[in-house]
Amino acid sequence: MNSRKPFIAGNWKMYKTCSEAVETAGKLVKLLSQTSDVDIMIAPAYIALAQVHEAVKGSCVMLGAQNLFWEKKGAYTGEISPEMIVSAGCTYIIIGHSERRQYFGETNETVNKKIKAAISYNLKPVFCIGESEKEREANDTFNVLDKQVKIGLEGLSQDNMQNVTLAYEPVWAIGTGKTASSEQAQEVHLFLRNLIEKLFGENIAESIRILYGGSVKPENIAELMTMPDVDGALVGGASLDADKFMRIVKFKTVG
Ligand code: PGA
Repeated sequence: MNSRKPFIAGNWKMYKTCSEAVETAGKLVKLLSQTSDVDIMIAPAYIALAQVHEAVKGSCVMLGAQNLFWEKKGAYTGEISPEMIVSAGCTYIIIGHSERRQYFGETNETVNKKIKAAISYNLKPVFCIGESEKEREANDTFNVLDKQVKIGLEGLSQDNMQNVTLAYEPVWAIGTGKTASSEQAQEVHLFLRNLIEKLFGENIAESIRILYGGSVKPENIAELMTMPDVDGALVGGASLDADKFMRIVKFKTVG
């Protein structure tokens, strides 16, 4: 047994208006007790953050954003700074999600800038990595992940790493209903933990949480969580429904 606290995070992507987001967050708070042996985070769209913060205040649900821009302030129309995200009540920030890499031109280098900016404002990055179907079929999975991790975390200290969570999200499993098998997830998570040990030492490797993401549901979470190096999940579709998300959070008691 390791001492890592399980972590279940919900990525709401571009779903829910402000009132819908507040309603779902409110339902979730009612379904969960005030304390939890699992860290729980939801990441609504920027525009709903401040209102959702009010809805989850005093509960065990923490707030995250889905992206940031690394500059402190300036003429960057449409962007949001780390300080703004903190001011909306966030403690976590999802960085480098494959949809951002795929549709919005994010690279390993810009992801690195975002992680550093987040850390300098005490935001905790949930750093997403993962291979595409083509890369997996070409047996390139470990090379791709190695590069994503090394460049994404370049220049970070051991101290900085204490606030980082990794999220392994195979692109072919996101929103497709195809979950990686728990063995496939474990194989990659172990690879990642060993890589973190090489880069940042044994203590960080032992304490860093590595989440799995890609079609996680109430029906498959318990099995994934039996794997020794799977410390939680980053959930998309199934996090939009308070009841489903609660069942994922309570994976230990769901058969
Ligand atoms: P999914 O998304 O659970 O809908 O597959 C996961 C994610 O993109 O974080």
